[in-house]
Amino acid sequence: MNFLNPAGGLKYHVQAWFHAHGLWKPYIQVIQNWIDSWPLTERSQMILIGPSAGYSLSETWLDSFAHITICEIDPVARFLFVRRFPKIKSKTAWVTGSVFESTTSWNTFLSEHPNSPILFCNFLGQAQHLKLPLTLREIITPLLGSRPWASYHDRFSSSLKPHIERSAHPRALSTSEILEEFYNALPESSGDLELYDHDTHFFGELDLNEAHYFHWAYSQSWHHLIEGVWGK
Ligand SMILES: C[S@@+](CC[C@H](N)C(=O)[O-])C[C@H]1O[C@@H](n2cnc3c(N)ncnc32)[C@H](O)[C@@H]1O
Repeated sequence: MNFLNPAGGLKYHVQAWFHAHGLWKPYIQVIQNWIDSWPLTERSQMILIGPSAGYSLSETWLDSFAHITICEIDPVARFLFVRRFPKIKSKTAWVTGSVFESTTSWNTFLSEHPNSPILFCNFLGQAQHLKLPLTLREIITPLLGSRPWASYHDRFSSSLKPHIERSAHPRALSTSEILEEFYNALPESSGDLELYDHDTHFFGELDLNEAHYFHWAYSQSWHHLIEGVWGK
């Protein structure tokens, strides 16, 4: 039942309905700015992976592509995406089944869309939740050096707000660097604090153009540290 999947589904849409124009707004704005600044030389096509209803995407950015392939397994998300962007001029094609069933299905999908840039839309940090059969390495390795790709994903989430003084870094930070940089100013009372590790440290092994870090206040009491990377 894909509308109940653990990385999205109805609960997520209800949260978005409450927060997209309030609590989530500053995060959505910085993510849209980051996506806008992704330097793409060619805009004939784009692939989106797991955009949900496009809560963090802007109509202007979507409209800058002639053709968009959208991989999203949640039928409610697809319905809401179309309702949220009724006027986009880009041609859209939906992929409603998972392209991550096996390395063969992922490689077949890539060979069917050989030159298209790919944006992973806050998807890869949910891989363990979703029990994706592929590792991040298996998903990302075929893209390296072959096409533009970018991902924004959860790195950590916690009841503690990360303090981000410097968003841009020349590479993805290691776990210890993240703890030092964004969670160092822990209050004395945070001894029992739990940080949920979304297991996306893999990007630190890659030669990237840049990595950016963002705070997403998901609820009044739960915060995400989002990492954004542009691949090459
Ligand atoms: C955390 S949500 C994305 C949030 C959304 N990008 C945003 O910024 O609001 C992850 C999305 O991935 C979708 N998803 C889960 N498994 C998928 C798969 N195998 N292929 C494509 N999308 C998938 C879920 O339906 C969900 O909409």
